[in-house]
Amino acid sequence: MNATQTLELFKSAQKRSHWAGDVRPSEVGQRITLNGWVAVSRDLGGITFIELRDRTGLFQLVADPQHNQAVHSVLGTLKSESVISVTGVVSLRPEETINGKLPTGTIEMYPESVSVLSRAKTLPFPLDEAENVDEALRLKHRYLDLRRPEMFANIELRHRLVQAMREYLNGEGFLEIETPILIKSTPEGARDYLVPSRVNPAHVYALPQSPQLFKQILMMSGMERYYQLARCFRDEDLRADRQPEFTQIDMEMSFVTQEDVMATMEGLIHHMFKQANVSLPTPFPRLTWRNAMETYGSDKPDLRFDLKFTNLTDVFKDTDFAVFKEAANKGIVLALRVPDAASYSRKELDDLQKQARQYGAKGLAYILLSEDEGLKSPILKFFNEAEIQAVLEKTQAQTGDAIFFMADNKFNKACEVLGRFRLHFAKRHNLIDANNHQITWVVDFPMFDVDDETGALSPCHHPFTSPHPDDVHLLDSDPASVRSLGYDLAYNGAEIGGGSIRIHQSELQAKLLGMIGFSQEDAHAQFGFLLEALDFGAPPHGGLAFGMDRIVQMLTNATSIREVIAFPKNNAAQCLLTSSPSEPDAQQLGDLYMQFVLPEKEDASV
Ligand code: AMO
Ligand code: AMP
Repeated sequence: MNATQTLELFKSAQKRSHWAGDVRPSEVGQRITLNGWVAVSRDLGGITFIELRDRTGLFQLVADPQHNQAVHSVLGTLKSESVISVTGVVSLRPEETINGKLPTGTIEMYPESVSVLSRAKTLPFPLDEAENVDEALRLKHRYLDLRRPEMFANIELRHRLVQAMREYLNGEGFLEIETPILIKSTPEGARDYLVPSRVNPAHVYALPQSPQLFKQILMMSGMERYYQLARCFRDEDLRADRQPEFTQIDMEMSFVTQEDVMATMEGLIHHMFKQANVSLPTPFPRLTWRNAMETYGSDKPDLRFDLKFTNLTDVFKDTDFAVFKEAANKGIVLALRVPDAASYSRKELDDLQKQARQYGAKGLAYILLSEDEGLKSPILKFFNEAEIQAVLEKTQAQTGDAIFFMADNKFNKACEVLGRFRLHFAKRHNLIDANNHQITWVVDFPMFDVDDETGALSPCHHPFTSPHPDDVHLLDSDPASVRSLGYDLAYNGAEIGGGSIRIHQSELQAKLLGMIGFSQEDAHAQFGFLLEALDFGAPPHGGLAFGMDRIVQMLTNATSIREVIAFPKNNAAQCLLTSSPSEPDAQQLGDLYMQFVLPEKEDASV
């Protein structure tokens, strides 16, 4: 077919009068036109049955040569995913061909005319088997993958969540403001993507890891309330819930306390989640970081199941079991009671020990409360009667339960490792109800992470987060115990958002930058514009950013963040559809005064 013929065909194609999925029995007898894709084509005894698909659903077409030879000769030869326009009268299906699963399952059409708008070749994979094909193939042919109703539903929910977000924040007086993509580096803890500047030879922009500093500057510019659906870029190792470029709902408010930001965000999340039929009662519960860690072993605790740690540090201060005694005096001793675990096999218990060591712990001691054999444990011999009684009482263990112990001189490590086992036991015992939705704020984060070896301080959140006013006096004497005004929102065990009240005094900001290792010169070279802006009238301010992709991933129960992004990157940060990143040509490099210097390849033959 030549181009002119194609154009002719397109002209003769009729515009749709109805969406395929929306036609109803009340339209029987009406002449309608549908446009869409051939989802399925079957030949039954010489008659062709086609499921026509558009984004609203499926509609059955019947091409019977007895009825209309010309239409049958066109529809009977079409491959799946060809694009057509058909016109005909809606009729009721015979009783025996009714499909109770489809809203259009009682009706069909014998087309009177058909235009083929685009013939498809044999597909690289059948769309209804996409779940089982290699993800790389799906990403390479993303346009096919996105035609699947499941993927369309994800993208459509994402759209509705964004609209709900805008509706809510506009109603609260926020302004939507764009901030630059080519920027000076803003540290959020990951590596920057750099973009060389042609007009400024040997200089680079960074792509924003977040709009953090611009949104703070907007507050210093008197905007009062800002939001943006912001693209963020972080060159970090990718996981199922991370992308190198992702989208934040980013916001900032002036003249607010932590309470104000949290209340506004609760309203926003409540409003957005209603789009997915998830109703979260407000106010959201709160946990301090310390409480979250020592009760659930995570700073983004999953509260959908009721396994909690018991802190047994006080019980073991003078115990004969040396490891526990040391941990009780320097760190923490935790116990986790797991119902119905007393019958674990020897092998399963051994595997848990191995797993604990892989996680970097010294072990995972246990006591089984066996129905037939009483208390069973390799460590009972180290405990005196009072210690055993205290363990049983404090954990409230029952016959049939197992108690697992995690002792470590380092608080974070003990909590985190036992937290991983908490999730393991929840899965092992099927404790997570998919219809349960649990959200919680985590507040009072530590201000700093302290490097075990060097003692160096790095910000737990980011360097612009305010220390907790009650702890400012400890900044010099005991920085490790200073809490920040940072807060995270955890939903079903995932961190969906985080933010803080910011520092709005230049001296304190300069001091904090110094504490995390910036010399005065470096601080001024990197953040001089911020320090200066803080000196010309900066309102107290704070805000937060939600991970948009992660929220949609959670609300669709998707196993990967890639399922809710139209054109995601794979785990090697590549776009398989367009084959990016790609090699620049010599001219492009020359324009940028650039060359690549690769490390010499190691000799594989040695
Ligand atoms: P933070 O770094 O915590 O805070 O990011 C906010 C939220 O963004 C999501 N997120 C990601 N989603 C997908 N892929 C990634 N690689 C990724 N990294 C983060 C998470 C996270 O909770 N400027 C601050 C916010 C503030 O202080 O206002 C910031 O970016 O859901
Ligand atoms: P050991 O005396 O080292 O053989 O340890 C006895 C039991 O205690 C084993 O089940 C170990 O896995 C466990 N164990 C050892 N150290 C720890 C620890 N720090 N926390 C929890 N369990 C431990």
